[in-house]
Amino acid sequence: MTIQWFPGHMAKARRQVTEKLKLIDIVFELVDARIPMSSRNPMIDEIVSSKPRIVLLNKADKADEATTKKWLNYFKDKDIAAIAIDAQNGTGLKQITSLSKELLKEKFDKMAAKGIKPRAIRALIIGIPNVGKSTLINRLAKRNITKTGDRPGVTTAQQWVKVGKELELLDTPGILWPKFEDEMVGFKLATTGAIKDTILNLQEITVFALNFLKEHYPKRLLERYGLEELPEDIVELFDEIAKKRGCVMSGGYIDYDKTSELVLREIRADKLGRLSFETPTEYQEI
Ligand code: G4P
Repeated sequence: MTIQWFPGHMAKARRQVTEKLKLIDIVFELVDARIPMSSRNPMIDEIVSSKPRIVLLNKADKADEATTKKWLNYFKDKDIAAIAIDAQNGTGLKQITSLSKELLKEKFDKMAAKGIKPRAIRALIIGIPNVGKSTLINRLAKRNITKTGDRPGVTTAQQWVKVGKELELLDTPGILWPKFEDEMVGFKLATTGAIKDTILNLQEITVFALNFLKEHYPKRLLERYGLEELPEDIVELFDEIAKKRGCVMSGGYIDYDKTSELVLREIRADKLGRLSFETPTEYQEI
């Protein structure tokens, strides 16, 4: 998945989302539970300000449970509806309809009072690429809709997908761009696998990931790579992992690219356990 988000594409993506917003009652903003802030679109609040919204912390199965709880509290404190889900296995999805009904009760009561026939709640799933939008639509729809592609320019006829009797979804999600301005965001997106054909340097991403793990999950690093202790110096850590895993070239030179690929692959495949790469404390307003 590679999308080059140039200003023109961003404007187009925004226009497409704005058009879709006219058709729906509520927005489901999908983020990655491991990086709920870094996997958001920077302008999302402004773009969907006209509609009620539920933040869905997806891939919660891959995230640190304790940190996800903190994130749910963070959103609750801000009066933002949020649910942790696993779109792949279907965990947490039942809450989506019940919470949507709760948030839209007033609107639907008013409609009923005016004599308007009851109808299903209409929703749009929005998120940056790779957060699991297609997976969630398929899971909710209980069928396999082929992916139309992540290109914001792709236009297809809008279709509704039924989710039980009380909810229907637009079958194509709203795709928005991530926050590129901040290099740390780029590293987090790359570490979790949201950016695959990476525009960032592989070794630099791994240095970020190893530093993060060293600080927040040192025991997992020790156990995974069979190390006695964690060296102070990150290059030494790189070297030790490389030696343990046979990423050494002839002449004893460390193959840093191979080591990087291995470490990132293992992080993304949950080999170091469930990991979260940001906590609400970093985002608490002062
Ligand atoms: P998108 O439409 O937002 O672009 O995302 P998509 O549904 O294609 O999902 C991206 C990847 O994330 C898919 O893996 C999908 O299976 C995985 N995924 C989605 N939701 C969840 C979840 O709740 N838990 C877990 N563990 N995985 C989830 P993929 O196609 O195999 O790609 P990748 O794994 O190689 O990135």
